Amino acid sequence: MEVKTSLLDNMIGVGDMVLLEPLTEDSFIENLRNRFDHNEIYTYIGSVVISVNPYRSLPIFTPEKVEEYRNRNFYELSPHIYALADEAYRSLRDQDKDQCILITGESGAGKTEASKLVMSYVAAVCGKGQEVNKVKEQLLQSNPVLEAFGNAKTVRNDNSSRFGKYMDIEFDFKGDPLGGVISNYLLEKSRVVKQPRGERNFHVFYQLLSGASDDTLRKLKLDRDFSKYNYLSLDSANVNGLDDAANFRTVRNAMQIVGFMEDEVQSVLELVAAVLKLGNIEFKPESRCNGYDESRVKDKNDLKEMCELLGIEQSVLERAFSYRTVEAKMEKVSTTLNVSQAYYARDALAKNLYSRLFSWLVTRINGSIKAQPKSRHKVMGVLDIYGFEIFEDNSFEQFIINYCNEKLQQIFIELTLREEQEEYIREDIEWTNIEYFNNAVICDLIENNQNGILAMLDEECLRPGTVTDVTFLDKLNTVCAEHQHFESRLSKNSKFLTDHSLPHSCFRIQHYAGKVLYRVEGFMDKNNDLLYRDLSQAMYKANHSLIKQLFPEGNPAKVNLKRPPTAGFQFKASVGTLMRNLQTKNPNYIRCVKPNDKKAAHIFTDSLVRHQVAYLGLMENVRVRRAGYAYRQAYEPCLERYKMLCKQTWPHWRGPAREGVEVLMADLQVSTEEFAYGRSKIFIRNPRTLFFLEEKRRGCLEALAALIQKIYRGWKCRTHFLLLKHSQVVVAAWYRRYAQQKKYTQIKSATIMVQSYSRGWKARKILRELKHQKRCKEAATTIAAYWHGTQARRELRQLKEEARNKHAVSVIWAGWQGTKARRELKRLKKEARRRHAVAVIWAYWLGLKVRREYRKFFRANAGRKIYNFIIQRTMQKYFLGLKRDMPSMSPIGGSWPTRPYRFLDTAHTELRSIFHHWRCKKYRSQFTDEKKAVFEEKLQASEIFKDKKALYPSSVGQPFRGDYLEISKNPKYQKLSSAMDEKVLLADVVNKINRANGKGTARIFLLTKNNFVLADQKTGQVKASVALPDLTSISVSTQNDGFFALKLKEGSAGATKGDFLLSSEHLIEIITKLHRTGATAVDQDHLDIDISDEFLVQFKQDKVCVKFVPGTLKNGNGASCKRKNNRLLEVSVPSTV
Ligand SMILES: Nc1ncnc2c1ncn2[C@@H]1O[C@H](COP(=O)(O)OP(=O)(O)OP(=O)(O)O)[C@@H](O)[C@H]1O
Ligand SMILES: [Mg+2]
Repeated sequence: MEVKTSLLDNMIGVGDMVLLEPLTEDSFIENLRNRFDHNEIYTYIGSVVISVNPYRSLPIFTPEKVEEYRNRNFYELSPHIYALADEAYRSLRDQDKDQCILITGESGAGKTEASKLVMSYVAAVCGKGQEVNKVKEQLLQSNPVLEAFGNAKTVRNDNSSRFGKYMDIEFDFKGDPLGGVISNYLLEKSRVVKQPRGERNFHVFYQLLSGASDDTLRKLKLDRDFSKYNYLSLDSANVNGLDDAANFRTVRNAMQIVGFMEDEVQSVLELVAAVLKLGNIEFKPESRCNGYDESRVKDKNDLKEMCELLGIEQSVLERAFSYRTVEAKMEKVSTTLNVSQAYYARDALAKNLYSRLFSWLVTRINGSIKAQPKSRHKVMGVLDIYGFEIFEDNSFEQFIINYCNEKLQQIFIELTLREEQEEYIREDIEWTNIEYFNNAVICDLIENNQNGILAMLDEECLRPGTVTDVTFLDKLNTVCAEHQHFESRLSKNSKFLTDHSLPHSCFRIQHYAGKVLYRVEGFMDKNNDLLYRDLSQAMYKANHSLIKQLFPEGNPAKVNLKRPPTAGFQFKASVGTLMRNLQTKNPNYIRCVKPNDKKAAHIFTDSLVRHQVAYLGLMENVRVRRAGYAYRQAYEPCLERYKMLCKQTWPHWRGPAREGVEVLMADLQVSTEEFAYGRSKIFIRNPRTLFFLEEKRRGCLEALAALIQKIYRGWKCRTHFLLLKHSQVVVAAWYRRYAQQKKYTQIKSATIMVQSYSRGWKARKILRELKHQKRCKEAATTIAAYWHGTQARRELRQLKEEARNKHAVSVIWAGWQGTKARRELKRLKKEARRRHAVAVIWAYWLGLKVRREYRKFFRANAGRKIYNFIIQRTMQKYFLGLKRDMPSMSPIGGSWPTRPYRFLDTAHTELRSIFHHWRCKKYRSQFTDEKKAVFEEKLQASEIFKDKKALYPSSVGQPFRGDYLEISKNPKYQKLSSAMDEKVLLADVVNKINRANGKGTARIFLLTKNNFVLADQKTGQVKASVALPDLTSISVSTQNDGFFALKLKEGSAGATKGDFLLSSEHLIEIITKLHRTGATAVDQDHLDIDISDEFLVQFKQDKVCVKFVPGTLKNGNGASCKRKNNRLLEVSVPSTV
């Protein structure tokens, strides 16, 4: 992208009119046209921006453009309104100078748009942050609200501002916006009641009717149809490109952002609606007996609706339209109004209502956007005020507007000259006097306090007697006749007596921008701006907060007989304040020019522009600017721009910039009258000299460009060549390496091949030799083997022969030996049999001999001894066997060795019993006292329940734990535990059976030495405490269930609620313990334990039978109790649980 460093780069025409050569009105306009045709709508005159309305959107207001112009010097880029805004903002932020931006031009020239562009630019470049953004948004959104109420379509502009606006934007030291203040000037209120042909009333009326919802319109008693309202002209109600409905939404949204409350918006809309209604009120004459006509409201419907909207009493307003009360010296005189006076009063009321509403809106917006009072604010003022107006028919409004423009022109001249002069002094340049037209004389004609036109007008308005517009003109004719800028047919100045372009009822003023003819008709009225007191009082009485505020003079308590200041007086005062305000600030000018009357793009009407150039004093502006020196530039940028024109300064100048510029100018031989050296800038007298420098620069740039191109091309080619060369070396190296590698590989593989062949051949040769040697060796071995074989076989045969012979010998020998041995054995056996028989016979014989000898001794003792001996032996054997097979020491062990002899039967049984008793004793001797007690309990349980209750067997194996709840340790039962005085013997959760439904409720069952207690399971609260002596008996069933009834002594303390029917999983233990403890407590032998399947339980007064019947197992539950009737509770017990 091309980078610009000066506005002189790529200029279309000249960007700064100061450089225009030759400077004539034609060349000026031609330059504007040339630039306009190339979409360059902005042109400078020094630091003044001329803006030509393009009447179409150009792509030059984008965020990218904002960035481009941000922080750039004014003359660095092509002329743009952003450059001016940036310059103003930066000198406000960095140099702490208050700024004002004065935007002038005729209606439709683009002032309002320019002011919005400036504001949006400043908003885009200034600080950011939540609070700052809110302030920015509020400042920007005040525009749509004010435009809706203060702008209207006119023949010149579809969005013409019908009020002057000056907005002070306040910034803090960092340049962040803090808030703002808006001042408004003279709203054209006559438009409310009447619009010229082809024009519209203020936008808001159309926006409301098009954009409001049906519901809102109903509330405001309005109809969407424009034609229903007299105050809305119909011929141009719809404007091309203007979407009233969408704009209404924008305005409502903007009001919300600015900070209007919903009820305030409603009040504002009610007032707008009221103005429309007011326009529809019509009057008819009614004859009075005194011959005068008195006005009466024709159709009271609109009046009624308006009064309802504003909360006004209808009769009061109706009377105010028919009568007028004049107060003079404490006297009240009431006069009737005729129809035309009533219409006048109505319109005056509408105008006042609207213009006061507008002023209220400005005040309200100011309330929202005002900055927090801080030590010091920097201010940027933006003035968007109506431009100079020259119509065919010019009235009071045009007079006032043009007066304002005169004042602005004056301040423009003053400030421009002053700035110029100040710059010359600052830069130490000799000041040459500049001739220019000073319009102070015209301002004086209008505003002079003694004989100024405004003073005359006020005087005439206040004068008693008959005063009319004509008397006012007469006065002017006498007072101002001599003034060179005042023209009137009847003035003493005879030269206009025959001027037919000057009617008798008019006067003409030669404004700086041209002559304007004013028709005096209406001047007095408009200046007086009277509203009948009856009307303001009627308004004050309204039951509507906003209306009341708008008409404070209607307050009867504050009747002020003094006349309010006239419109002219007020305007003059506010213009005076504005001028004083502007004079304290650094001015920045935007002069808007309208290119055509058709509001069309691309059309540039010379005559129209010429007229504006003339009355805006633009030529004068250029001349003033050029009077001394046409162009100035700081030394650094100047040297930077032109240094290539001199060998000493190119390419670098090492010394101070000023000296560089001096060397440069000397080298270029520029005549010394053509320029002057200031402190920081060089001043060039004629644009010619600047263009000479520019021309030289352009030529030089071309040569430089060619040089740069040449060097660049040379460098490029050299670089390319070196690159190629280098590449070639690299490629060659790579190729050589590749070729050598390939060749080496080939040689290597060939060598390997040759090698392998020669090695193969050698190997085969050796192999052949080795094979031959091997075969030779094998042949010798084979021959030797065969020979050895033959030898061996031969030997074997011999050996075999020998062995066969030997074997035969031994077989024969063995056979002989065997026969010999068998014969010997037979003989020995025979001998042994014979010897044994002899021994046996001998023994028998000896025995016989002994028996015969000792028979007598045997018969006396031996039998007994043998018997005893045998018995002893047998017993000994028996006991030793018992000792060996001793059964286990467990008392429940059933094994016992079998009896060996029948005669030991009794002893065996007895021994078994002794052994059992002994092992039981051994077992018992290990018992502690507690264990003993437990076994005693178990024993007692067995005595009570064994073979009586089916539940008993399953309880035998379960130890009795007593405290199932760990009552003393568990913190949950701490309270309950501490309530027990005695040791708790048993603590368990039981179910207390409810008589009414047979359902169980969980209860804690506690047994102590003297009591049993039932307590709530959750809370631990004691429900019943019964002394054991009061317990008479316990009933249980024979079956496999846990139900038991505790029967109490009738009349005892515990028996107030009757007996207890309970169920527990530990029934056997509970009853055994109860039985044991109860028996000791009552000191009776035993507690009755009734075991039967049907027993009676006493509940309070009634006896209820509890019957146990066999049942089935349901849902895994055990026995269940059901109430059968009043007297019967049936417990069904499943056969197996
Ligand atoms: N910079 C611009 N780009 C595009 N269109 C523009 C520009 N400036 C003005 N216009 C067009 O010209 C119209 C009139 O401009 P604007 O309302 O600013 O005039 P004005 O000078 O404020 O007139 P008045 O004195 O009647 O208020 C705008 O509605 C818009 O259509
Ligand atoms: Mg405007």
